[in-house]
Amino acid sequence: MTIKHLKILHQHNADINQTFEKDGHDVVQGLTGTLKTLSPKYFYDDHGSELFEQICELPEYYPTRTEAWILNQYADEIAAITGSCELVELGSGSSTKTHYLLNAYQKVANSLITSIPDAFSYIPIDVSGGILKTTVLHLQEKYPDLTIEGLIGTYDEALLYLGKNHSRSRMIFFLGSSIGNFNAVESNEFLNKVSHALTQGDYFLLGIDLQKPKDILEAAYNDSQEVTAAFNLNMLAHLNWRFQGNFDLNLFKHQAIYNEIDHQIEMYLHAQADHQASLDILDLKVQFQSGESILTEISRKFDLEKMQVQLRSQGLETIKIWTDPQQWFGLVLCQVL
Ligand code: AVJ
Repeated sequence: MTIKHLKILHQHNADINQTFEKDGHDVVQGLTGTLKTLSPKYFYDDHGSELFEQICELPEYYPTRTEAWILNQYADEIAAITGSCELVELGSGSSTKTHYLLNAYQKVANSLITSIPDAFSYIPIDVSGGILKTTVLHLQEKYPDLTIEGLIGTYDEALLYLGKNHSRSRMIFFLGSSIGNFNAVESNEFLNKVSHALTQGDYFLLGIDLQKPKDILEAAYNDSQEVTAAFNLNMLAHLNWRFQGNFDLNLFKHQAIYNEIDHQIEMYLHAQADHQASLDILDLKVQFQSGESILTEISRKFDLEKMQVQLRSQGLETIKIWTDPQQWFGLVLCQVL
């Protein structure tokens, strides 16, 4: 198995399976505050990424298939607008939905009158080295002319590594409404970093989940097969492995609620008994009271008008929006003007 198309962005980390920064500073911060929180990036160890793939197939979890429908319908139109460009995907995971875009951009590359080197190129970025490795090998087989360089790392690490300097035009894309994991401040900081990895004329393609009735949303995050519950609890297993911890997964229960005021799903792990958990590598002992919760994720649901305003404030001008017939999901193409 070759990994020549993969680059690990963590300086102090030579092991492809260890993909998070060593310090775990954010874990200590999150678990020692009055309201306990953990970053959703800790969902995605290799097992967590597999569970997320299963979530995407659930009947209640409409976002993946709705966005896939939009991409299937409009990928050719997107590629026609941007023309051939370097494709950079943040949080690529299994790159399943990316196939619609790759097919469209392959056609564009093939139709070029004068061939340019790397006319068809893709840079997938993910924190999970295991899934990225499988994805890159699979893509190389399916698209022999595709130039691929996978980056194992966080969005921040990758955007910094990519920098502003690129010879060809670039499109960064961020699908699945993962931007919903950031609060208002964080999402502005994130868009600012995206904007800094682009130059004039470059593109940003963003997938966002739209506001809709509470019952549809809550069903999507409390599925009947309890895969989302397993996904949520796996964060504790990941922390145990990563930081030599002893969280007892049986002492926590999954819950997801839709906060209609802030337009966001909130995922919690509720402690079922008074107890203590420790993370030895972080020298951390945490007390839990029965009923106390850890907030593991927010998943914001957006308004297309407001999103355009926010994008514009970071120098990203919306040029076209696509949605599904029910208007459940939006795909926004912006350009740096
Ligand atoms: C990958 C962040 C978009 O918020 O819907 C799915 C993650 N969490 N089910 C989402 C998730 C619970 C997902 N994102």
